[in-house]
Amino acid sequence: MNANAKPPESYQSRFLERDVAEDYACREYGAESYASSIWEWQAPLVRRLLEEARQEEPAGRHLDFACGTGRITRLTEEIFSEVDALDISPAMVGLARATCPQARFFVGNILESPDLCPGPYASITAFRFLLNLDPPLRLPLLAGLRQRLNPGGMLLINLHGNRHSLRQPAILWKRWRYGNSTAKDGLMLNDMSENEVRRCLESSELLVERVYGTGVLPPTVYRWPLRRFWSWIDCRLSAMRFLRHFCIDLIFVCRRKDSPVK
Ligand SMILES: C[S@@+](CC[C@H](N)C(=O)[O-])C[C@H]1O[C@@H](n2cnc3c(N)ncnc32)[C@H](O)[C@@H]1O
Repeated sequence: MNANAKPPESYQSRFLERDVAEDYACREYGAESYASSIWEWQAPLVRRLLEEARQEEPAGRHLDFACGTGRITRLTEEIFSEVDALDISPAMVGLARATCPQARFFVGNILESPDLCPGPYASITAFRFLLNLDPPLRLPLLAGLRQRLNPGGMLLINLHGNRHSLRQPAILWKRWRYGNSTAKDGLMLNDMSENEVRRCLESSELLVERVYGTGVLPPTVYRWPLRRFWSWIDCRLSAMRFLRHFCIDLIFVCRRKDSPVK
């Protein structure tokens, strides 16, 4: 264990600097990255789910919460006529604005400004957010999202580090090697189980309607030769229902508990 590990910073302030925001855009979503490969086949699923939400409420508005550089916002602009996108980091919003011409962007913290993007929204997306968020903030922020959702609306939230997946051995090794969480080079070494996420959602008066999984093979495989071949295999494995709960990335389709029965 590395005794010089820095104490973890709050996730809320992690992307405030412009160079960190740019690094996230270039490194995490660079052309050959693991995250980009997974997104290639996760995007059609997210599109289908959002189209479902739009059909349920054709005039409804969408909120992309913790929009970051606008990866999800761009997709939602193709589906909804009105999209709001919110992030705590002005630097991330600056990058998102440049590629999302239709969305209305907001910078701020809904816990400090409860009137920010009050909704109600037909659907809300919150991707790559819950896992790394400081645990005491999870329930208040989920409650804030629930409050902004129409009673019949849909919340899509993902877990991009399922503990019960083949990502875990590498995470355990890195934790042992570098110390916990954001200790070295901005490594994020957090994990959560599907049940932990379900408990957070249920404690926030949200009901999990369905869960989808993406990515069975460990990210390391994507650095081996024949990357496109492994991606093809991974896509097929992810489509197998019995492997869903062991995927690295899980998408939870949620409704408010007081949602009218469909
Ligand atoms: C890893 S990025 C994900 C961006 C985008 N959702 C995606 O999937 O590509 C996480 C984002 O959450 C934002 N964030 C962290 N805490 C937040 C909060 N309390 N309210 C709004 N955004 C927050 C960060 O600034 C960062 O842009």
